[in-house]
Amino acid sequence: MSYYPEILSGKLNAKYTWLVTGAAGFIGSHLTEALLSVGQNVKGLDDFSTGTQENINAALNNSGHAENFTLINASITDLVMFYIMPRSRQFLSLCNSR
Ligand SMILES: NC(=O)c1ccc[n+]([C@@H]2O[C@H](COP(=O)([O-])OP(=O)(O)OC[C@H]3O[C@@H](n4cnc5c(N)ncnc54)[C@H](O)[C@@H]3O)[C@@H](O)[C@H]2O)c1
Repeated sequence: MSYYPEILSGKLNAKYTWLVTGAAGFIGSHLTEALLSVGQNVKGLDDFSTGTQENINAALNNSGHAENFTLINASITDLVMFYIMPRSRQFLSLCNSR
């Protein structure tokens, strides 16, 4: 996360794709909102064990950049995701349809 302060202050011009774990929770949804607000891409991972879709909706609405967000409905413990995810749109669809 060493880039985070630079991103928030607008000093970093590069656009990255960030994986935010717990994106439907309190901290994760605010982090997602902050990153989207400065034009970054976010993949939000959450299994909705305690988080809510409402938190994500609020982050997307407040950021004004919902188009740069992808929801991954899966558990971080599902480690196979990290080997398959970069290459497989099908796997992402599978996660979202759980
Ligand atoms: N208004 C406020 O000030 C306020 C509101 C809520 C919470 N809080 C504080 O925030 C802290 C909690 O926030 P948080 O964001 O750490 O907790 P959280 O429960 O809000 O977020 C954790 C997220 O991780 C997800 N998650 C859990 N296990 C997972 C797994 N294996 N794979 C994928 N996702 C998984 C949950 O579904 C949840 O969305 C507490 O200290 C609480 O008191 C403050």
